Parts: sequence; C-alpha cells; structure tokens
Amino acid sequence: METRVVKADLEDWRTAAGEAAGVLRDGGVVALPTETVYGLAADVFNAEAVAKVFEVKERPDFDPLIVHLAKAGDLTRVAAVPEDVAEVVKKLTGAFWPGPLTLVLPKNPEVPDLVTSGLPTVAVRVSKHEVMRGVAKELGNPIAAPSANLFGRISPTSASAVMSELGGRIPLVVDGGACANGLESTIVAVEPAPPRAAGAKGSAEPKPIIRILRPGPVTREELRKFGKVIKAGRVTDKPEAPGGLESHYAPRTPLLLFEKPEDFVPEEGKRYGLLSYRGDEKDGYLGRHDWARVEVMSPGSGKIAEAAVRFFFLLRQLDESGLDAIVAEPVSDRALGAAVMDRLRRAAARPHR
Ligand code: TXA
Ligand code: MG
Repeated sequence: METRVVKADLEDWRTAAGEAAGVLRDGGVVALPTETVYGLAADVFNAEAVAKVFEVKERPDFDPLIVHLAKAGDLTRVAAVPEDVAEVVKKLTGAFWPGPLTLVLPKNPEVPDLVTSGLPTVAVRVSKHEVMRGVAKELGNPIAAPSANLFGRISPTSASAVMSELGGRIPLVVDGGACANGLESTIVAVEPAPPRAAGAKGSAEPKPIIRILRPGPVTREELRKFGKVIKAGRVTDKPEAPGGLESHYAPRTPLLLFEKPEDFVPEEGKRYGLLSYRGDEKDGYLGRHDWARVEVMSPGSGKIAEAAVRFFFLLRQLDESGLDAIVAEPVSDRALGAAVMDRLRRAAARPHR
C-alpha cells in the first residue's frame, strides 16, 4: 500500500483534516498529529476499523486504546462520570483539557469492547492539537488512537517517524509538524475521597484520589492541587495501564541505563552511543568513553521540558545509527523528569530484538 503524507499547514489544516475524516468515515485508519505523539486513528464506534489499528501496529489485543474527543462536552458519548468523582473530573478536565491528560472512566456500552480490551473502563482525552480535534469534529465521532508505532517500539513525534514505523501499512499520514510535548499523555484514574476516619483530628477534608497509571507531561506536582496523588503499583501480573508493561518504548539497539557513570564498563570493540541530558562533562558520562555518537537532549544548562520534547526523536536517531548499544544518562526523577525516567527504565528493561 502506498502511504500519502499530507501537510496540515497552520493556515489551512482543514483540507488535510477533511481528507483524514473521509478515510475514517470509510472505515480506514490514518496517522494524526497530537501535542504528545502521533496517533493511529480509527472511528471509535467502528469495531472493524479499530481492529485494523491493532493489526497495523501488531498490537496484542490486551492493550487498550485511548479515545480522543473533539471537545470535553463529548465525554459522555464514550464514558460515564460516576457522581462520587464528578467534581474532581470536572476540575481536572477544566484545568487540563484540551491537553495531555488521559482519564480512565467507566465505559459506555456503545464503545466496542475491542477498544478497551474488554475492560469495563475507557481511557479518554481531548488533544490540544487542532488537527486531532478537527478530524473528530468533522467525522462526528470520537477517535480511538494509540501511538502510531509498531507495538513496543519508540513513539513517533514527527510524520517522518510515523513513516519509518508504518509507511506502506496505512493510506494516509497527516503531517502536523513536530509534537509539542514529545511524550505520551499522563494517564490517571480517579477515586472518591475516603471517608474521614472516626475520631480523626483536624479539619482537613479527605481529598479524592488520583492514581497515576502512566507518568507524562501533566506532572504529579501539578495534579496534587486536585487530590491525593498515588503512583499505581502493579496490582496483578497484568499491568493497570498496559503502557505499563515493563518493556516498552524500546529501540532495537540495546539501551543501557546506569545510575552512576562508573557503572558503565565498555566491552572491547563495541560501538556505543550516548544519550546525554545536557552534554556537560561535569555529569561524568561524556568523558567516560570515546563514544561513537553523542546526542544531547537539552544542550546548555539542561531543561527537562526540552529534553522531554526531543527524547523519542533522539532515541530514534541513535537507534538508526548502527550502534551496539545506547547508554542513557539518567535525569532527575521529579516533575517531567519522572516521565522521561519512566520511558528510559522501560526501554532498558526490554528483551532486545
Ligand atoms: O499521548 C497519548 O496518550 C498518545 C496520543 C496518540 O494520544 N496515545 C498513546 O496511546 O500513548 P498508546 O496506545 O500508546 O497507549 C495507550 C495506553 C495503553 O497502553 C494503556 O496503558 C492505557 O493507555 N489505557 C487505555 N485504556 C485503558 C484503561 N481502560 N485502563 C487503563 N489504562 C488504559
Ligand atoms: Mg504507545
């Protein structure tokens, strides 16, 4: 199959959006830009089209998709908002939509089970990218869209990255430029505040619980304003958020993550690349080895937002450089750094292929 790439210009993205909506209406799949990473889209109410998403990505059917709405007001078309969390849901969507926050809520029966992998819940967000919202509006239905990469691989943050993942497998890619955030959305589940313990002292009201299923651009620190934030543990051997599979987001080249530069002991004759945070000698990695290639996420003083935006892009470049292994410098585990570290740990945990 020939894959066409159409540009969505700032002034005229509607033509491309209209074309994409047409493909979706006919039951096809298309790659669309979002502010996080590119998504592989299908009409959420068309189970056959959704099946194509799994097929094209070679994604196992136990890994559910994220549903994208044209606007927050469409939420009840795919999900129910239980009364006991209505207030916190309203606050979160008011604060972060459109934007990179995905909410897990009870699903509506009209959403095909394939979308949610049979789960009683559905993951929903409203993208900040006008093309994703515009296509959903033009189609008249919400859009199911996981990241537009082959299963387990590096998420695409540009149209050319989508082409190298899915070129020849899909009819259309809408090129909306580089993704502004560069990391997948934060996924949360919400629970009502626990009842106040009998005899509890003080006047603080118990807060609703916000469980982070996947760290992302909306940080734990930002979410704290809205409830008690908990990082999800793995409750069963099936991860709560299957993006939570231990190995994920992985390059084909083995990725090595060392807490300290001294822990890296190069093997004779191997070509290593370095994914550096800020390219500073002081961090100890740069001078540790005669690297075959070095990519710096945030040159200069190191800004975590810049590092996050460039992360998948640089990882992909290193992966395509014929190295024996990629060594990644760890970043701070706070704020956006937690989302980058989450991706690095998973990439490093991967059995390499
Ligand atoms: O930023 C993003 O979220 C991007 C763009 C395209 O929107 N999408 C994305 O989709 O990252 P994907 O398929 O790569 O990740 C979707 C993840 C699943 O792996 C799973 O972890 C989680 O969303 N998910 C979906 N439905 C869920 C549910 N009902 N309960 C828990 N987690 C769910
Ligand atoms: Mg993904």
